[in-house]
Parts: sequence; C-alpha cells; structure tokens
Amino acid sequence: MRENYDEYKEMINEYLLDFMPSIDSKSSVLYDSMKYSLMAGGKRIRSVLLLAACEFAGGNAKDALPYACAIEYIHTYSLIHDDLPAMDNDDLRRGIPTNHKVFGDGIAVLAGDGLLTTAFEIMNKDMFLFFDNMKELKKRINASYTIVKHSGVQGMVAGQASDMDSEHKQCSNEMLEYIHINKTGSLIVAAIRAGLYLGGADEEMMKDLTCYAENLGLAYQIADDILDIKGNVEELGKNTGKDAECEKITYVALNGMEASEQRLKELTINAVEAIEKYYDNAEFFRDLVLRLENRTK
Ligand code: IPE
Ligand code: IPE
Ligand code: MG
Ligand code: MG
Ligand code: MG
Repeated sequence: MRENYDEYKEMINEYLLDFMPSIDSKSSVLYDSMKYSLMAGGKRIRSVLLLAACEFAGGNAKDALPYACAIEYIHTYSLIHDDLPAMDNDDLRRGIPTNHKVFGDGIAVLAGDGLLTTAFEIMNKDMFLFFDNMKELKKRINASYTIVKHSGVQGMVAGQASDMDSEHKQCSNEMLEYIHINKTGSLIVAAIRAGLYLGGADEEMMKDLTCYAENLGLAYQIADDILDIKGNVEELGKNTGKDAECEKITYVALNGMEASEQRLKELTINAVEAIEKYYDNAEFFRDLVLRLENRTK
C-alpha cells in the first residue's frame, strides 16, 4: 500500500471530475455549481481513507476510485447544504465563497441534490460491470450499501438534523456524542469500511479498523470544534468563531477546551491501539490520526 497521504489525494483530485455525468447545456448552471464546490479543494480525507483501506486489505486503489469519488461527492453535498442560510449560514468554504453566495440558495440546494444522486449513479454504474463476477459484485454492493446507509437517516443526515435541533439549547454529553458520531463519524466509518469491503478484508480486520474509524471519526469532529476556536481562517479555509456565535452544541461549549483536548488525546490513543497488531503495515492510519491531533496544537 502507498504510505503517502498526498499520493492518494492526487489520485482523487485527478479523477474526481471524470465521474461527473454529462449535463444538458440548458442546465449548465447545475454543472457549474457542482464543479465549483467539488474542485474548491478540501483535504479529501474520506476518499483517501477509502482508497487506503482498500489497499490495506489487499485490493487495488484504482478499482475503488468510483466509491472514493462517490463519498467525496456526498461529503461535498453535505458541506453545501450545511453552509446554507437555513443551516449554519456560512459564507466561506474551502477558501472561497460558499456555493449559495455564488449561485444563490436555490441552485446550491440543487447542486447538493445533484452531487448526492450522482454518487448513487457512479456506484451503480460500476456495479453493472461485474454482473458476471459474483465475488467482485458482492464487494461492491457491500461498499455502496455501507456508504449509502452511513450518509442517510441512520448516519450523517440524522446527525445534522439533531445538530440543527440542538442549537440554542442545553444539551447532554450523550446527545453531543450522538450528534458528532453521526454527522461526522458516520462518513469516516463508511469510508474505511467500504474500502475494506472492496479490498476483501476478513472479519477481524473489519472489526479492528472499524474501531479505529469510530475513534477517528469522533476525534475528527472534536478537532473541528477545537479549531473553530483555535484555528485560523487562512489555514482552515472557513470562518472561525461561528459555533459560539450560533450557539452550536460543540465539545468545547459543553466541556471546555482542556477537557476537549484531553478527549481528543484519548480517542487518538484508542485509535492507535485498535491497529497495533498490524505494526508497520498500519503506519498510514497511525500517522493520519496522530497528525489530526497535532493540527489542534
Ligand atoms: C468539514 O469536513 C466538516 C466536518 C465534518 C468537520 P472537512 O474538514 O473534512 O472538510 P474538507 O473536505 O477538508 O473541506
Ligand atoms: C458539519 O459540521 C458536518 C457535516 C455533515 C457537514 P460543522 O457544521 O461543524 O462543519 P463545518 O465547521 O461547517 O465545516
Ligand atoms: Mg453544521
Ligand atoms: Mg457548519
Ligand atoms: Mg465545525
């Protein structure tokens, strides 16, 4: 497997637009708005994790590209909708104005819808190629089901709904973790599990890496909460201080900065421990979670 995050990221950046279906020129605004947010940059962590997990399990990253790009499409849609005035009302994303600031709220909603449905199309189209190969088809059905399930009402969408519903309210730590695990953890778990399915991982590897992913997923949102306070706009490509302004339920709002950093550390240790038995083979995943913790320092 490749050891370098940027190698996977370059693959995603190279192929991401190739999966865009052709859109009638009469709807070119739809194409432009989808492309605008897709190509604005971003860390590509979910798609990179999917490719890396596939190779970790012994598969070939190229075969996993449709699924990696699909998850990046879904994530990008979630950001466009998350930034809308009706949700977090943000005007900067990935270092440039948010989709609705450029195209208007209506087109931004539809760009999100377009990205989400395209993700299904990309995965289904790939599955068509394997009708006569049940073993390969099964891997793909598992991967796409995992992605779809974690993106929807049992994952990201549910977390986003509870996030909205908890604004300006008192909230328990149980609710906070539920929100974070779903709105952000879900897609990260999906990325890793889908990659493992595609690579043909066994049960044991599935279990260990899922444990890693669950810890990484929660850590990722806690780090995002911390960076909303400690980070800077240039590095993040989005405005800071927004969570407090909107009275969002965040780890820091509920538990304070010190406890948040402590929890991030704990989750990082748990994630590293979950993949200990793979020694140097899991260097990529170990590095990634350690670098995440370091970003907040
Ligand atoms: C932002 O995700 C929203 C969260 C779930 C924290 P990322 O921080 O991965 O955003 P990009 O894709 O790099 O822009
Ligand atoms: C968003 O969480 C998670 C999504 C599913 C998009 P946030 O609202 O904290 O993400 P940012 O800070 O706007 O990137
Ligand atoms: Mg939000
Ligand atoms: Mg937001
Ligand atoms: Mg945030």
